[in-house]
Amino acid sequence: MNEKVVDDWDPRSDVIAHDQAAAYDDMRRRCPVAHSEYLHLSLFCHEDVMRVLNDPETFSSAVSSYLSVPNGMDPPEHTQYRSIIEPYFSPQRMTVFEPVCREIAISLVKGLSRCSEVELNAQFAQDFATQIQCAFLGWPKDLHAPLLQWIRKNHEATLTGDKIALDRVALEFDTHIRGLLAHRRQAGNDAPDDITSSLARDRIGNRLLHDDEIVSILRNWTVGELGTIAACVGILAHYVAEHPEVQQLLREQGSLLPGAIDEILRIRAPLIANRRVTTKPVEFGGRVVPIGQRITLIWASANRDETVFGDPDGFRLDRDPASNLLYGAGIHACPGAPLARLELRIAMEELLAHTNWIALVADRPPANAVYPAAGFAALPLWIE
Ligand code: HEM
Repeated sequence: MNEKVVDDWDPRSDVIAHDQAAAYDDMRRRCPVAHSEYLHLSLFCHEDVMRVLNDPETFSSAVSSYLSVPNGMDPPEHTQYRSIIEPYFSPQRMTVFEPVCREIAISLVKGLSRCSEVELNAQFAQDFATQIQCAFLGWPKDLHAPLLQWIRKNHEATLTGDKIALDRVALEFDTHIRGLLAHRRQAGNDAPDDITSSLARDRIGNRLLHDDEIVSILRNWTVGELGTIAACVGILAHYVAEHPEVQQLLREQGSLLPGAIDEILRIRAPLIANRRVTTKPVEFGGRVVPIGQRITLIWASANRDETVFGDPDGFRLDRDPASNLLYGAGIHACPGAPLARLELRIAMEELLAHTNWIALVADRPPANAVYPAAGFAALPLWIE
């Protein structure tokens, strides 16, 4: 691939912005390995995405000029940092966090008026994601509003690809987090016993983690949490409103929620894509791909690939969970998945428990979110 390659598609066109899922379905069928200046070489098929995930030596994650722990790292460095991160999402930590998570969900659901139209994003999903994130990490409540603004600005800067704006947004986040770390260091033994303090005590080899490593870890958790959890809650609530039979089933059999949540989010992706770069020449679908080629894995398409899932929109609870790429696969598979699954189960349990029914609003369709966001930009729903 070189500068003269003609673009196969425009990821920022109005057609794609209007309905990302439909547009990616179309690409997967028409041009499953597609070049564009903006997203480089995009892979739309499950098989091609799996090939990349299973071969981190050929497909490196070192795609960004920013330090990105552990997302932008390759082994052996990646392995070391993963071993620091994974224990924060252990079953024990999840058990301790569950009641905190439930309390937040209950208080937000109780704040929704009954027998009325609500804007689920603004009145529930975003607040749920932000409050949960701050509670999990031990961050103060006055960070809720700046965090919400930050994630919006981060999406805008990513969409335009404006390097100066991206630098500014990264710096803004760093400033907040460095403030929290400085506060904890000054407090010494009186520092709150939370995850942020614990990261400040974590060691890599024989040294403490540097501040820029901690900031990067927390930035990636924040993007994972705020960017996707709010989108997931919107997608799930909208799906059950649009599919009364699924809503009825989940109201009657709450134990089906975990599998149903993963399946709904397979059908309607909360995270569109992630990136890689080749470390040697390869071939995809007859296309010769040179070393140094940037690649975009389109989760939102691979997880709807009919060669693996049959009808992409078919809601089925008996699928092989290993084929669902919601949380990725291989060495970079989402370490936050246990937390995400816990939060989404509780959000849905409480939404269903404190309402009699969730329905679409007849004359007010939701507005789809635009890449790199997924889910809905606005989501009016009727709550009884
Ligand atoms: C429903 C919500 C979430 C979804 C759909 C999701 C999805 C994913 C996916 C697909 C990957 C693989 C990326 C790749 O291969 O390049 C990933 C990685 C990652 N996720 Fe999540 N995630 C979610 C929530 C979270 C949460 C709550 C956290 C942390 C609090 C988190 C932290 C991370 C990190 C740090 C990585 C990078 C792992 C690595 O490079 O080794 N994610 N996530």
